[in-house]
Amino acid sequence: MKILGIETSCDDTAIALINGEENIITSIKEVASSQIDIHKIYGGVVPEVAARAHTESIIPLLQELYDPTNPPDAIAVTSGPGLVTSLIVGVETAKTIATLTNIPLISVNHMEGHIYSNWIDNTTPPEFPVLALIVSGGHTELILMTDHLTYHKIGWTVDDAAGECFDKVGKILGFEYPGGPKISQCAQEGNPIAISLPRPMINSGDLQFSFSGLKTAAKLYIEKNPKVLNNEANKADFCASFEQAIVDTLVTKTMHAIQLHAPKTVILGGGVSANPSLRTQLQSAVENTDTAFVAPNLAYTTDNASMIATVGYFKATQKKFTKPHTLNANPAWELKEKK
Ligand code: KG4
Ligand code: ZN
Repeated sequence: MKILGIETSCDDTAIALINGEENIITSIKEVASSQIDIHKIYGGVVPEVAARAHTESIIPLLQELYDPTNPPDAIAVTSGPGLVTSLIVGVETAKTIATLTNIPLISVNHMEGHIYSNWIDNTTPPEFPVLALIVSGGHTELILMTDHLTYHKIGWTVDDAAGECFDKVGKILGFEYPGGPKISQCAQEGNPIAISLPRPMINSGDLQFSFSGLKTAAKLYIEKNPKVLNNEANKADFCASFEQAIVDTLVTKTMHAIQLHAPKTVILGGGVSANPSLRTQLQSAVENTDTAFVAPNLAYTTDNASMIATVGYFKATQKKFTKPHTLNANPAWELKEKK
């Protein structure tokens, strides 16, 4: 089954084709237009600017992937959560194609997409029950899945998301938006135990996360130690110590969730899953408990349309289609428990 995916929830316009056969997903092609160069001027995503850029890119990208003589079996589109001005560009485009062609339409939650990035080009897909740690710019969540498309949110952040914390501290350090990848790169030259930073709620005994206290502590440390800003070795030690505080928190909470829920597989997803320290440290902690570990290919860690098309495949196998005229962008769509 061939699925066309459309993703416009934030600052990337992405269109992809995947093929799904017997629950194995093969990527065919992904085309995308990144807006990072536009938004870095403002230090973050400006919704109206993002919407205009999506409208400029989406048709040329579609023309590269959509062949009317060989149409896809279904169209999957991200309809939430995200910036409403961005989401509506993808949603209305998908609705229009589906209405004019009668190709079935599937509504996908962006977070489901990050979870399903672990199935792309993976010939040994995750076995259920699956525990997913999803860490992106807007979310930090632990989700338990007993089967496909069944989600139980068991942990979340009470304030900032991990990616947001990376980006805000990156801005203080003078890195261009988004700061996460820059901190991660700078951290590779540094010592992760050089500077003591807090790990809020690490011992709270539950599965909740908190990152705003770490952001404040990092800001205060930089104000008191301005050499972090202009000495490369100090900057690298700071980045490594800051990154380690986030990784420790994410790993500790995931290990606690393993003890409580005994999953067969732990999967990772979201933009922060590109972070090499998080990938390697989580992998070794999880595998120590004889639980399998899967992380997405690096190409599918940040926002992409192949992951949306992949969810589309699994929804299509369960005939979870949406009538085009009933679909609306839903910027605050929470992944709810479903049977
Ligand atoms: O999933 P994503 O592309 O967009 C959202 O759905 O939010 O995630 C973007 C986030 C940003 O906060 C970015 O700084 C972070 O992922 N990120 C990283 C790395 N690569 C991307 N954070 C830490 N280390 C990285 N290597
Ligand atoms: Zn995302």
